[in-house]
This record gives sequence, C-alpha cells and structure tokens, in this order.
Amino acid sequence: MSWIVRLMKSSLGAKYVMAVTGAGLFAFLIGHIGGNLLLYFGQDAMNSYAVGLRELPYGLLWIARGGILLFFVLHVYTAYSLTARNKAARPRAYVMEDTFQASLASRTMAMTGTIVLLFVLYHLAHYTFRIVNYAGPYIDNQGRDDVYTMTVAGFSQPVIAITYVAAMLVLGYHLSHGLSSMFQSLGINHSKYNLFFRKIMPLVGWVVTLAGATIPLAVLAGIIR
Ligand code: HEM
Repeated sequence: MSWIVRLMKSSLGAKYVMAVTGAGLFAFLIGHIGGNLLLYFGQDAMNSYAVGLRELPYGLLWIARGGILLFFVLHVYTAYSLTARNKAARPRAYVMEDTFQASLASRTMAMTGTIVLLFVLYHLAHYTFRIVNYAGPYIDNQGRDDVYTMTVAGFSQPVIAITYVAAMLVLGYHLSHGLSSMFQSLGINHSKYNLFFRKIMPLVGWVVTLAGATIPLAVLAGIIR
C-alpha cells in the first residue's frame, strides 16, 4: 500500500490531506479569481493574460493543471471517505445536543462541498471543454482565443450569471469554515492566533469569492461588455 493510502486511512492523516489540499486549492482560487478580474480591464488585458498562461515555458501550465486535478481528487475523495467513516462510527442520527456547539457552516461542509464539486464540473464543461452553453469559436482581432468575449457571452445569460453568483456564495460559505479549521487539522491551534483563525481567514475567503461573484454581476449590469 502506498504511503498516501496509508496516510488517508488514519483520521489524523485524512484531516491533514484535507487541510493541505484545501490550502493548495485556495491558492489556485486566489490566482484564478485574480486573473479573471482582468475582465474589468478589457478584452486585450484578459486575452493577453490567457495567451500568456498557455505560453508558459517548461510545460508549467500542464504541471499546474495536473497539480490542481490531483489536489481536487484527493480533497473530494478524502472528504467523502471521512464523512462515511464518521457516519459508520455513529449510526444513530445526530441529536440536537451533540451538534449545537458546531457552527452551521461546519455541519454542512459535505453538502456545500458537493455543490461546489457540481459547479466545478459544470464550469469545466462550460469554459474549459466548451461543450455546454458555448456559442463560439471566439477569436479576437489579433487572431487569439477570445476568452473575454466567451466569458461576457456566457454571463450575458442571466440564468448562467446567477448560477455562478450562487456557486460563489456557497464556496464562500464552505471556505468560511474550511480556511479556519485547516489550522486545527495541521495542529496549529494556539489561542493567541484565534482572531486570525476564526475571523481573518474566513474574511479572506469571503473577499476572494465575493470578488469572483462581482464578475457575472458586472456583465449583467453592463459594466463589463
Ligand atoms: C466568476 C468567476 C470565474 C470566472 C470568470 C472563471 C473563468 C474561467 C475560464 C474563462 C476558464 C477557462 C480558461 C481557459 O481555458 O483559457 C476557467 C477554468 C477553470 N476554472 Fe474558473 N472561473 C471562475 C470561477 C471559478 C471557481 C470559483 C473555481 C473553483 C471553485 C474555478 C475553477 C476553474 C478550474 C479548475 C479551471 C480549469 C483550469 C485550467 O484548465 O487550466 N473557477 N475559469
């Protein structure tokens, strides 16, 4: 058995895997939303950035994609196996007094995580594989892949824009617990840093996801067009 399977079979190891992969995925999200904010700076800024990513040397783009995929699969697989293990350990349904201490966000992690998973699958089909809700090809006047127009065309459809905003809110809620609990999972839990764990990290999560949510809203409002 490989070391990673053995690590995930122990509850402590599984929590470690959740924390490390969650942190990695959040780092990707910061870069991804940050890059997408270039939509506010117009077609040339966005498309130059998209082309720049694809032209990264040494196959860096594919290494990054492989890393994100690996982290994503590990995060989801470990989450479901932890949830199944917890259920098996206490087959009786939770009763009120067991749970009133834990926050709603922490008790709904599996549900919010599943919604984010469904969103990511849709999002990949939409903008990466371009097999749903895609009316392209979109090519700009310099002959480049026109990610700007593709995104604006997507979010000009209110149902799609609202779906993205809703997904971003669910993701923000998921992160509001995940970003705070990951330190506990890594064994970093000195009370001196409570403000950081409990308030600052959830706030950072909300800033990133709400920044993402402004993009479809800005397209609907005609600010990005
Ligand atoms: C309004 C917010 C967002 C916008 C405008 C957006 C836009 C895009 C676009 C245009 C692509 C395709 C890039 C290309 O093929 O050149 C993409 C890929 C991707 N997005 Fe998003 N995205 C948003 C939010 C998110 C969120 C919240 C997540 C994760 C929870 C996410 C995860 C991904 C992943 C994993 C890829 C594939 C990356 C790759 O193939 O290199 N995105 N996104």
